[in-house]
Amino acid sequence: MKILIASPIHHTAIEKLEKDHDVISAFGADRETLLTLVPDREVLILRSGVQITAEVLAAALNMKMILRAGSGVDNIDVEYLHQTDISLVRIPGPGAKAVAELSFSLMLALSRNLLFADQSWRQGLWKKKELTGYLMTGKVLGIIGAGNIGSRTGQLGAAWGMEVLGCVESPNQMKVDRLKGKGIRLTDCQEVLRKSDYVSIHVPLKESTRYLIDSEAMAIMKPSAILTNLARGGVVDEAALLQTLNDGRLRGAALDVHEQEGEGNISPFADLDNVILTPHIGAGTFDSQREIGDIIVEAITAVDSGQSASFFASEKVVIHEYM
Ligand code: MLT
Repeated sequence: MKILIASPIHHTAIEKLEKDHDVISAFGADRETLLTLVPDREVLILRSGVQITAEVLAAALNMKMILRAGSGVDNIDVEYLHQTDISLVRIPGPGAKAVAELSFSLMLALSRNLLFADQSWRQGLWKKKELTGYLMTGKVLGIIGAGNIGSRTGQLGAAWGMEVLGCVESPNQMKVDRLKGKGIRLTDCQEVLRKSDYVSIHVPLKESTRYLIDSEAMAIMKPSAILTNLARGGVVDEAALLQTLNDGRLRGAALDVHEQEGEGNISPFADLDNVILTPHIGAGTFDSQREIGDIIVEAITAVDSGQSASFFASEKVVIHEYM
């Protein structure tokens, strides 16, 4: 098959695909590169960082399948895609494990002020007295968007001895029961924000979630609370968060996703000691990326041997499953 790999995926998958297919790699391809390369391609593989607009899709005349090597589809014009015959295959499972673990590790790191502990002791400064932290055990963990990734994060909290609250966009009894089985009590987002000591955000970016966590949402949070965002930059109003942190109305934050991402951008939070900043590495574990790579090869092999991509997609993924 004619494949375009527009984002880095696990090298074993690239090697396997290169053996059997015509593969072009253009990681982080911009508009012009995509428009030049897509016309004869049958498969497009991508992660975040590349924009698959209606214009790019219209130029993809031979495209059969787009493989989203992860969860988010905010960088794909899904509405336009639905008008085409192109199948969209998302692979959200493997990355979810990694994102949940990163979310939890960031909350732990903030609770014990680990960055400061490490940096100061490297300089020979014995800041033991200033480094009394907080337990997560016994506290309330709030999950905004208790779907695929959020419920995994909640499960980690429940295993840690936390009370876990969660909210979803469309609650129903099935979700209540499913989440209860994972140690998460489903409630409304207002209660999650009001009662939680740790609020972890895991909603997809779409019109209804843009600036979901704005100054009003932050105003009802406990001033002692910690906010982590591993969803998308546009879900949190960064200007409002900066103001809230500067006013001392939140204890800290961890942001893996940002309104401005990519080389050369300096986060507006770069000067704050109570904020941990990471460059969108949530799904970035070797294990998860290898698993995603294996599924990509499996999907392409299936489609190449005549199986319908839409059948494969329905077996593996459901779009918008996480709210
Ligand atoms: C995702 O949506 O799966 C993540 O943002 C990971 C990525 O694409 O880099």
